[in-house]
Amino acid sequence: MDATEAARYSLADFHAGESDNLLVPPPDYAEWRRASVWATSLYERSLLGAPIPRTFVDLNGMRHPVLNFASYNYLGLARHPETVAAAKAALDKYGTGACGSPLLSGMTDVARDLEKRLSSFLGRESTMLFNSGFGGALGAMEGLLRKGDVAVVDSKAHMCLLDGARLSGAQIVTFDHNDAAALEGALVKTRGKRRLVVVEGIYSMDGDTADLPNLLPVAERFGAPVLIDEAHSILTMGKTGRGAAEHFGMEDRIGLKYATFSKAFASVGGFVSGRAETLDYMRYYANPYGFSCALPPAVAAATLAALDVATRDDTLRARLAGNATYFRNQLHSLGLNTGESTTHVVPIVIGPHRQLLYMLSHAMLGRGLFLAPVDFPSVPEDQVRFRCSITAAHTKKDLDEALDILEKTVVPALRAVS
Ligand SMILES: Cc1ncc(COP(=O)(O)O)c(C=O)c1O
Repeated sequence: MDATEAARYSLADFHAGESDNLLVPPPDYAEWRRASVWATSLYERSLLGAPIPRTFVDLNGMRHPVLNFASYNYLGLARHPETVAAAKAALDKYGTGACGSPLLSGMTDVARDLEKRLSSFLGRESTMLFNSGFGGALGAMEGLLRKGDVAVVDSKAHMCLLDGARLSGAQIVTFDHNDAAALEGALVKTRGKRRLVVVEGIYSMDGDTADLPNLLPVAERFGAPVLIDEAHSILTMGKTGRGAAEHFGMEDRIGLKYATFSKAFASVGGFVSGRAETLDYMRYYANPYGFSCALPPAVAAATLAALDVATRDDTLRARLAGNATYFRNQLHSLGLNTGESTTHVVPIVIGPHRQLLYMLSHAMLGRGLFLAPVDFPSVPEDQVRFRCSITAAHTKKDLDEALDILEKTVVPALRAVS
C-alpha cells in the first residue's frame, strides 16, 4: 500500500476484529499504519515545554519553536504563578499521589476543599471529583442510568458521554444536533421510560453552544432531567464563569453539571455537581470514582488555585472572548470556514480533502504553527478540519502570526481545490 492508497482508508475501516488472536491487530491495519506514517506522525507529538502560546515541540528529533493553537489552556493558567505555587506547596506537604480510591483510602483535605468550593461556586448542594474528565463522564452516566433507561444524547456529544451510556446498559437515542424538534421526537419515542437528556455547553469540534433556550423547555415538558457537559465552557463562559448554563441564565433548570479540569483549569480530572441525594447515591455506583485513585493533592491544589484566579474577576474571560472574536473575524476575512463556531473553539473546515488536511498540517508545523488535523471518523468525512483553541494568553502578535501562516498555507491550498 502506498501513501495515496492509504489515504483512502481511515480508522473507521479497522475496528472489526479480523485476526484469530485479538492481540494481533487486523493485518491491513499494520500495513495502513506503515503507509500513512506521514499523516499519523502528526498525532501524539512530543511537547518540549508548557502548553502555552509559544512553546517547543519535537520535530524530527529537533526542538522546534511553535505557536501553539492546539492546547486547551483557555485562560492561560497552566503556568500561572499561583497555580504552580499551589501545586508545589501541596507536593511538599502531601507528596505525589493520593494512593487509593476515595471510598477506601480517602482523599486529602485539599480535594475536600475543592469539592466544597465547586459546590458553592456553582450553587449546587454537592460535588464529587474524578481523576479524569473522561472517567467523570463515564461515572456520571453509569452511576445513574440503568438497563431500561434511555440516554437521549445530542448527536455531537463527546465520546465519553456515549461510552458512559453504553457502559450503563441503557438504550442510547441520539437527536440531531441542537434540534428541539428532534429532541421532542426522541422523547415521544421513548415515552414511559426514565430518560436523561445529555448536551454540551460548548461542542468540542464545532465551537457552538447548546441551544438551551429551545432544548430545555422540551426536556421539561417530558419531565426528563438534563446533564450538561461544560468541559469547554466552565470558567470560560457566563458572567462569573459558571458555563453555558449561566450564559443563558438557565442554571436552575439543569439537573446535573459535569465538567473537566483539563481545559480552563489547566490541570486534570473532572467533577459532577448536583443535589446531595443524587451524588450520595452516585458515589457508590459510579465505578470510575469508587474503584479508582483519588486526585493527586498537587492537582487538587492547582485546580483550586485556578478556580481562585479565574473567578477573582472576569479579566481573563473578557480577554479570551476578545481574542476569539478577533481570530474568527480575521479567518472569515481570509475566506475560511469556521462552521458554527461562536466561541474560543474555532474550527477551520477543510471539507472532504483529507490528504490536503495532512499536507497542510505539515506545512503549518514547518512554519511554526501547531494545529493537529481532525479527521473522519471524529468529524464527518466531508468536513475534516483543524480545530484552533484560542486562549486568553495569546497576544495579538501570536494571533496575527498564526493568521499570516494560515494565509500562506491554507488559503491558497483551498483556493486551488475549490
Ligand atoms: C466535551 C468533552 N467532554 C469531556 C472530555 C473529557 O475530558 P478529559 O480530557 O479531561 O478527560 C472532553 C475532552 O476533550 C471533551 O471535549
